[in-house]
Amino acid sequence: MQPSGASRLLYLVKMRRHRTQKLANPTIIVHGGAGDWPQNKHSIGLAGVRKAATRGFQILQQGRSAIRAVEVAVIEMEDNPIFNAGTGSTLNFEGKVEADAGIMDGRTLRGAGVALLHHVKNPISLARIVMEKTDHALLAGKTVERLGEVYGLPKANLRLPERVRQWKRAKRELENGSIKYFSRNLKLVHDKGRFFLGDTVGALAMDQKGNLAAADSTGGVSLKLPGRIGDSPILGAGLYADNKLGAATATGVGEIAMRLVVSKSVCDAMRSSTAQGAASKTVRDVTTLAGRGLGIVSLDRKGRYGVAHNTPHLCWAALTKDKGLVSKMVGIR
Ligand code: GLY
Repeated sequence: MQPSGASRLLYLVKMRRHRTQKLANPTIIVHGGAGDWPQNKHSIGLAGVRKAATRGFQILQQGRSAIRAVEVAVIEMEDNPIFNAGTGSTLNFEGKVEADAGIMDGRTLRGAGVALLHHVKNPISLARIVMEKTDHALLAGKTVERLGEVYGLPKANLRLPERVRQWKRAKRELENGSIKYFSRNLKLVHDKGRFFLGDTVGALAMDQKGNLAAADSTGGVSLKLPGRIGDSPILGAGLYADNKLGAATATGVGEIAMRLVVSKSVCDAMRSSTAQGAASKTVRDVTTLAGRGLGIVSLDRKGRYGVAHNTPHLCWAALTKDKGLVSKMVGIR
């Protein structure tokens, strides 16, 4: 039923404003992890991030939310065993999977992380359930896995034979002293980066309403002690999104990202800087304060993205209306 009189006028003004409201250009950027990507895995990793960016972008083009777009992009990477997340998760010191994930909505500043998951096929969807259906911002272990069951999330065997082979090799090298376990992570990443093949996946998106979202997912650091939780489920460290600032997600050694609250720092830097400027500045600061071992992708309020890292590689893809699909396996030595 149409309103009448003054309320009708107000209705017409609102409708007009709604119709003339400019839609934002949807943008997505995803990464498949910082670390040391062997040459023979470059093309598979790049194909994986391109597919994830494309899937997320399709959601944005349908007019759906940034939150759904980052979730879909991360699911795509969790289901691709080339990446260290979901199905491809690396193994801890005992040879078990303990996966983490996080998601954050820049419109509401709601967000949540899940940690220490053994069997959930898509940890990112469980993080979204925690964000939307509970009062908590971080849940770990069996309880949250049960919550996944209640919501019908599929389970999977995340312990892939290739990861078991990598774990056995890493343990042998650890035992014969050719790697120094966790003393310290940075040296390990730098010298023996192959054990950190594709650390963590992440996605940032801006939808047609200009809302921002961030998501990430990881098997964590190889040979981590059982019970260790990284940065990925921690808001501010592994990811952050705020419509008023921007969105960012980190990859690399989680302990650095937590100590330096890296993703929130990148978002704060976007008050006065572009996404690229903020990511580059934060990585420079990280290198000075903590050394090598970190990568960042960022997205500012204008839909511009940034990428910076001090690890040997970072694999990423972005998709925007203006620039189309851009993907890179960036290497530094
Ligand atoms: N960045 C992933 C982790 O450290 O767990």
